[in-house]
Amino acid sequence: MKKITIAIDGHSSCGKSTLAKALSKALNYIYVDSGAMYRAVTYYFLEKEIDLDDKKAISKALDKIEIRFKITPHGLRTMLNGVDVEKEIREMRVSEMVSPVATISSVRKELVKQQRKLGKEKGIVMDGRDIGTVVFKDAELKIFLTADPEIRVQRRFDELKAKGLNVDMETVRINLLERDHIDSTRKDSPLRKATDAIVINNTLLTPQQQLEKTLELVNEKIKETAS
Ligand code: DC
Repeated sequence: MKKITIAIDGHSSCGKSTLAKALSKALNYIYVDSGAMYRAVTYYFLEKEIDLDDKKAISKALDKIEIRFKITPHGLRTMLNGVDVEKEIREMRVSEMVSPVATISSVRKELVKQQRKLGKEKGIVMDGRDIGTVVFKDAELKIFLTADPEIRVQRRFDELKAKGLNVDMETVRINLLERDHIDSTRKDSPLRKATDAIVINNTLLTPQQQLEKTLELVNEKIKETAS
């Protein structure tokens, strides 16, 4: 069957990665969590104490960063220069810095380049903030996911707890709303619904229901592109 490119964008913790993972499994497509790439860069900058105002240091650091994804029995792991950083990149200190880092154009340029490389064969589901508007502008299927903010806070809190991280709900709420604001108002590639994206509000949907709805859209798009 013809393979397509699927772009999923939306605010933090609205279920993008749950949907993207389930879709990639159902379709046997590659899944790329582009947020994990911004998190890995942020983690590297924190570890190396890179000053976010020092353009030269940022450019040097970007040359030394290699991000890959590895499928393991514990799920998909983000590898930074060969080291599994999946747990570290979800920590609050990274969540608190990632949106400012994602406003830096040189960071975005490098990651967009890597993301396009990963998607050049199609058969990919990528989630993020600018996938349908910048990275894969001509993706055959673009989904813009939304959910009520309180549901999103609860989901992020549950996710972090399940990963064994010690967080409180208020810290999660403040971080999430702050990131929404920075991600939607930054100059370079702000979070926007692409004009040709389909909006799915999953506040009242189960993961299975949102998967079924999206698979219907995928089948329609595959038929459309084949005809
Ligand atoms: O999906 P996430 O919450 O793990 O993403 C972390 C941050 O990375 C998010 O606050 C904004 C940034 N990001 C981005 O700017 N562009 C993307 N395509 C994906 C994430």
